[in-house]
Amino acid sequence: SFEIALARSNMTLTVPAGRTILEVMREAGIDMPSSCEQGACGTCLCSVIEGEPDHQDVYLTQAEKKSGTKIMTCVSRAKSARLILDL
Ligand code: FES
Repeated sequence: SFEIALARSNMTLTVPAGRTILEVMREAGIDMPSSCEQGACGTCLCSVIEGEPDHQDVYLTQAEKKSGTKIMTCVSRAKSARLILDL
């Protein structure tokens, strides 16, 4: 599992194995749009302020993935113990 800290919502959530960032955020009442939920459409994109994403999507370019500044919340996870998201 890993933590997500939502900077603007002032909230920290735990994403366990087998759950997605998107699911955990929605359970906490965060209104996050999504469509494909397979990492392909780009709808669930979120900006990353701090931490290292573990990209599982096919939407971001290699350069975007390398920059670590964006994450697709429906499929991607974290390599670091914590991600700080701009939400
Ligand atoms: Fe389509 Fe996440 S909902 S990429």
